[in-house]
Amino acid sequence: MNNIILIGFMGSGKSSFGRFLGRKGYRFTDTDDMIVEREHTSINDIFAAHGEEYFRDLETKVITELVESGERGLVVSVGGGLPVRECNRKLLRRLGKVIYLRADIKTLVNRLSGDSNRPLLKGGNLTDRISTLMRERKSIYEDAADIILDTDNKTFDRMYNEIRKALK
Ligand code: S3P
Repeated sequence: MNNIILIGFMGSGKSSFGRFLGRKGYRFTDTDDMIVEREHTSINDIFAAHGEEYFRDLETKVITELVESGERGLVVSVGGGLPVRECNRKLLRRLGKVIYLRADIKTLVNRLSGDSNRPLLKGGNLTDRISTLMRERKSIYEDAADIILDTDNKTFDRMYNEIRKALK
């Protein structure tokens, strides 16, 4: 079984859908969880104590390790900003089939309002922050993806069936 990599904006459902795929025979992994486990602290605290670049270096490190492990049958949910580095996009392609979970800004705002675990969304107007970041990242996600999966108003079952068809 080839690996599946889930990319997309914060709140696009990568981790929840990844866990769902974890019940379909894949082994679920999440780069944020790996980082938190290693650093013994939260993503908020890593950003606050060391800054974003330090966190990005940790992301490159974990994704490199996953590629080098040669493991198969993984579903890997990656942090929303991980594909921004070009070297990471190359690593993702080596790791498996990259699926972009695309969601409307409205959906993302609904899901992320009240969230306090995402340092990049702190302060200011949430819709503006998401829109600005999405403008910067939209084409990056699309270019990085083997498959673009629109997720708005779709059940996980339907998304799973669409992926299976696309992977055939
Ligand atoms: C980030 C997304 C987060 C986490 C960090 C930065 C981003 O992961 O890696 O807060 O830059 O988009 P999720 O996409 O899982 O929320």
